[in-house]
Amino acid sequence: MFIDEFKKYKDEFCWLYMELYNDRESLDKIIVSLEDIYNNRKPELKELDKRRKADPDWYKSGDMLGITMYTELFAGDIVGLKNRIPYLKELGIKYLHLMPLLKMPKGQNDGGYAVEDFNTVDEKFGTNKELIDLCDSLRHEGISLCLDFVMNHTASTHTWAMRAKEGEQKYRDYYHIYPNYDIPREFEKTLPQVFPSTAPGNFTFDNDLNAFVMTTFYPYQWDLNYANPAVFGEMLIAMLRLCNMGVDVLRLDAVPYIWKELYTTSRNLPKVHTILRLMRIAIECVAPGCLLKGEVVMAPKELKAYFGTEEKPECHMLYSVSSMVNFWSALASQDARLLRRELDILLSFGKQCYFLNYLRCHDDIGWGLDENAEREFGIDPLLHKIFLYNFFKGDFEGSYARGELYNYDNITKDARTCGTTASLCGLEAAHWKKDKDKAIGRILFMHALMMSIRGLPMLNSGDEIAQLNNWDYTLDEDKKHDSRYLHRSKFNWNALEDIKAKKGPVYEVNSGIKKLYDIRSRETLFNNRARVYTYDTRCDNVLAVVHELDGEYFVALFNFCVEPRGAYLPNLEGKFTDLITGKSMNMEDGIMLKGQSFVWLRSKRCPKA
Ligand code: GLC
Repeated sequence: MFIDEFKKYKDEFCWLYMELYNDRESLDKIIVSLEDIYNNRKPELKELDKRRKADPDWYKSGDMLGITMYTELFAGDIVGLKNRIPYLKELGIKYLHLMPLLKMPKGQNDGGYAVEDFNTVDEKFGTNKELIDLCDSLRHEGISLCLDFVMNHTASTHTWAMRAKEGEQKYRDYYHIYPNYDIPREFEKTLPQVFPSTAPGNFTFDNDLNAFVMTTFYPYQWDLNYANPAVFGEMLIAMLRLCNMGVDVLRLDAVPYIWKELYTTSRNLPKVHTILRLMRIAIECVAPGCLLKGEVVMAPKELKAYFGTEEKPECHMLYSVSSMVNFWSALASQDARLLRRELDILLSFGKQCYFLNYLRCHDDIGWGLDENAEREFGIDPLLHKIFLYNFFKGDFEGSYARGELYNYDNITKDARTCGTTASLCGLEAAHWKKDKDKAIGRILFMHALMMSIRGLPMLNSGDEIAQLNNWDYTLDEDKKHDSRYLHRSKFNWNALEDIKAKKGPVYEVNSGIKKLYDIRSRETLFNNRARVYTYDTRCDNVLAVVHELDGEYFVALFNFCVEPRGAYLPNLEGKFTDLITGKSMNMEDGIMLKGQSFVWLRSKRCPKA
């Protein structure tokens, strides 16, 4: 019964809501809607809720492997995707994140992140029924489905926006609308820019509205006004409807931006957390088998708050953006210090803080490193950033990478990077066998790194077949201004022929990734009970990550330097097995690693205290 589920949280939910909105009537309505949604949740999903409640760490198991993709690029539409489930199973996928599928404008729509209707699948992908059917099929195959919940904004063509344009006050109040530029001007004094070159400014003048509307992202993405309880109510219900369709994980798109206040950056404000906590409570009561995954592309010091506390949790999982950025920075600079520092911070967050690890996704790589740590290591933050984006564009002497800049800001000299894993690791630029081998080595090095860290590893579709950049995006009028389309290309199904033939770079990358995942999924030390920490190797180029459980050790060592390097590992000497080659080895004081290579080692013996 809903009443029993809600009892535990009622006081907190009502208190938070009243503190935020002070509106008893809308609160009562929301509670009635929650009950409705609870009653409409189908028995099979309620069974799943029960199982997951009994095993709340289900998504932290070591055999989880995720993948993210655009439905149309991978398989055309939802039905096509359903037919490809065997491929995903074969790869070992247990978590599938599909890019936005809901109704979106034709032409420019920010890859579906401009939503026209939160309750309806876009017809180019299929129907709601087909989505429900896909959820069912995936569930039966043990694959969880993650969908975006684009909560910060709607498309400028959403019904609410259209009615606002027609002058209905109710819907004008759904957005941040100002009759002239006076208030926007004040806002702009402290608001940073998300897309400084592709969509400068945070406000757009709309002719139909005859007013300015807040548009943090693209001008056709109107920011919702969460200070209005009606917006919160509509969005909460829309989110829970997705859960009832059978979606397991909601990716809370751009969640740090949902609360705006004048003279602040309007990011990470305390009320964002009030709203998140309300959403988490609603999930716990209505669809406790579902997870909230926050898209928080912010500095590490902002991240922890998004997990809430152990007693009052918010997100179940966050993207580990800062590890990802540090992976790439360490690769280019051949220096593991910043990465180690970052991992130490993230690992110190505690067990309830779980991250999703990845190398690439549909977005760019934003070079947001920890500037204080950089200075401490004698690295100039701006010069390092310039080095990184030039390196990954292929514009630095000796660079093997091929990528593109994204949102270069002429004033701050900030820029981000686009490109696929394979192209950024050198496969696109490699013409000779020796260079290809090196590129393949780097690709697998990066995947092993991502899989060695505590968290859920996620591939970007195409990574597993070493897909290269797609430079043709510039021929498409709707895409040519957004270089993120460089790494958003049609899945190359022909590549499977190379895999079948067991030869060439595609095969080597594919079998290498599968092997890594296979080892990881069988390895008992990738258990959430394990203690995970980095180890001082006495060498700035070498990173050591240790998983320790019941006196057993998994040790991953990565030499970022192109030259061989030794890692000194006192207290870890003893008999180890190299999990990749299967060979036993005796680790004395340390180990020598070839240039840009890694090892995964496992001990049975308890090392010296
Ligand atoms: C998120 C998405 C990104 C999109 C933005 C606006 O950051 O990952 O692709 O442009 O939100 O919705």
